[in-house]
Amino acid sequence: MAEDLMKIQGEKSTVYENLFPQIKALIGDETDIIANLANVVAALKESFDFFWVGFYLVKEDELVLGPFQGPVACTRIQKGRGVCGVSWERSETLIVDDVDAFPGHIACSSLSKSEIVVPLIRNNRVIGILDVDSNELATFDSIDDQYLNELCEWLVSVI
Ligand code: SME
Repeated sequence: MAEDLMKIQGEKSTVYENLFPQIKALIGDETDIIANLANVVAALKESFDFFWVGFYLVKEDELVLGPFQGPVACTRIQKGRGVCGVSWERSETLIVDDVDAFPGHIACSSLSKSEIVVPLIRNNRVIGILDVDSNELATFDSIDDQYLNELCEWLVSVI
């Protein structure tokens, strides 16, 4: 397994297309969830230089912070709270162009300006979420939605 990412410049769809086969190779037949999620966030952070990338995992009735890259973050999020908790509650992807305009947004860092949250769904149940934050407004769009959902759908089948 190559341990260096081969990064390319270009449209973000091209960057995602280049990255996903590398993530799949990186995970290979590893089954440890922490190791795999840790490498996924590292690969996303390295490829896009997002401000914060991380997973929260559903444990009992809360989201609990999992592998992430970026500044320290809040540890536990209740269902329906913040962008992450609402994504969990609705089982849907949320794109927030301006986090200050999202009622109840949880500001782990004042530098975070926009955000996308994608639920990890297995057997119709949310088992966690992927949260990606940007320090610029309106960073995320339907392309991130499409590719990050594809990534999360694949991930739940291997973790
Ligand atoms: N902003 C998120 C909380 C998690 S951090 O951004 C890492 C939210 O409102 O749910």
